[in-house]
Amino acid sequence: MSKEMVAIAKEKFSIIIEEQLKRVQEMKKEVFIPDYSALSPIIIGICWGDGIGEIISKHAQRAIEHILKDEVAKGRIEFKDIAGLTIENRAAHKQAIPDEVLAEIKSCHVILKGPTTTPQAGDQWPNIESANVAMRRYLDLFANVRPVRIPQQGIDWCFFRENTEGAYVLGSRGVEVSEDISIDFKVITEQGAERIIRMAFEYAKKNNIDRVTVVTKSNVVKTTDGRFSRVAFRIAKEYPGIKLDEWYIDIMTAKLLDPARRKDFKVMVLPNLYGDILTDEAAQLQGGVGTAGSANIGNKWSMFEAIHGSAPRMVKEGRAKFADPCSMIRASGMLLRHIGFNDQAKKVEMALDVCGQFEKKMVITGRDTGVTGEEYTNYVLSWVDNSQLESRWEQGVKKQVVKKNSNS
Ligand code: IPM
Ligand code: MG
Repeated sequence: MSKEMVAIAKEKFSIIIEEQLKRVQEMKKEVFIPDYSALSPIIIGICWGDGIGEIISKHAQRAIEHILKDEVAKGRIEFKDIAGLTIENRAAHKQAIPDEVLAEIKSCHVILKGPTTTPQAGDQWPNIESANVAMRRYLDLFANVRPVRIPQQGIDWCFFRENTEGAYVLGSRGVEVSEDISIDFKVITEQGAERIIRMAFEYAKKNNIDRVTVVTKSNVVKTTDGRFSRVAFRIAKEYPGIKLDEWYIDIMTAKLLDPARRKDFKVMVLPNLYGDILTDEAAQLQGGVGTAGSANIGNKWSMFEAIHGSAPRMVKEGRAKFADPCSMIRASGMLLRHIGFNDQAKKVEMALDVCGQFEKKMVITGRDTGVTGEEYTNYVLSWVDNSQLESRWEQGVKKQVVKKNSNS
C-alpha cells in the first residue's frame, strides 16, 4: 500500500521536474523585447474581472482614454474588450483562463486587468487556479513590480516580486501523498532568479539608487531561498556602485513598520510568496491596498492590475460603486509609462498624490460616507488636466515634510 503511494507521488514529482527542466531551456533562449515606440497601433486589452473589478477597471479605462485622447483619435492606441475572464465563464469552462480568452489576451500588447475572484475550497466555484497566477505563468510575466510611495515620509519603495516561481508555480499541483500527508513544491531556478534580480538592479542603476535589498528566509529555507540569495550576490558584482544587503522576511515585515529605518530601503527583490505578503503590508502604509497598482512584466506581454481582490462583500452589501478606483488608475499610470508615455504617467501619479494625500477635497471610503468611484475618477482627471498640477504637487510634498519635521 505505502509502496504504491510512494510510486504515485514519485510519478507526479517526475512530471514536475521534467516541466521545470523544459522551462529552464525556454528561459535560456534569447529574448526580443518589444519596442513600443515603433508599434502602431498599440493594443491595450481590458479584462474587466469580477465584483468591483468590473467597475473600477471601467474607470481606469476612461482615465487612459482621456489622457491619450489624441493617440486614440489618431488610431495609435486601440482598446480590446476582453469580457470572458469572469468567474462565471471560468467556472463554466473549468479553466483558470478559458482557451479562447487566452488567445484574445495574447493578441494584445499590454493588458489592463481588473481584480478577479480566486476560488477556494468550499466556496460555490470549482476549485480552479487563480486567473492572476495562471496569466502570470501563461504569459511568463516574471516581474511583479509594485511601487509604494509616501512622499511626506520620504518613503519611495519599489518591490520586485518574482512572479512565476517560488511557492506559487506549483501551488495547485501539490500532492496528497496519503490520507495524512500533503506536499507542496517550491521552485527557484538560476535563470528565474537572475532575470528578476537583474531587473531590480537595472531599476536601481537607472534611478541612481545605491542600494538593493534581497529578502529571503535563506537561513531556514536553505535550498531554494539559498539559491535566490546566492544569485543576488553574484549579480551584485556586476553593479559596483550598488550595495546589496540581505534581510530575512520576518524581520523585514517588522522593519517596514520602523519609522527610523524604513525610508532607507529603496529597492527590494524577493521570491513570490514573500513579495505577495510584504507588498500588502507596504500598500497598507501608503493608505490601503486600494491605493496600490502593480505591473506584471514579461519579455513579450505585460499586464497591469490592482494589488487587491474583487471584494465580493462590497458587491453583496451594495457598495460596489463606492469602490476605490485608485489602484487601477495607478496601474494605468504604470501601463502608460511602460508603453512610453512617461509625461502622462507622471501626471497620473502626481494627480493621485494631490487628490489622495494633499488636497483631499473628496474622500473615498468604500461606502456612502464618501464619494463614488466615478466622482473620484473625475476628481483625479480634473487634476491631470490642471496646469497647476506640478506646482501643487511640489507644494504638497514640501508642506508635508515641514509639518513632519516640526512635529518631531
Ligand atoms: C496579488 C494577489 C494574488 C496573489 C491572488 C489574487 C492570487 O494577492 O496579486 O498579490 O497571491 O498573487
Ligand atoms: Mg497579494
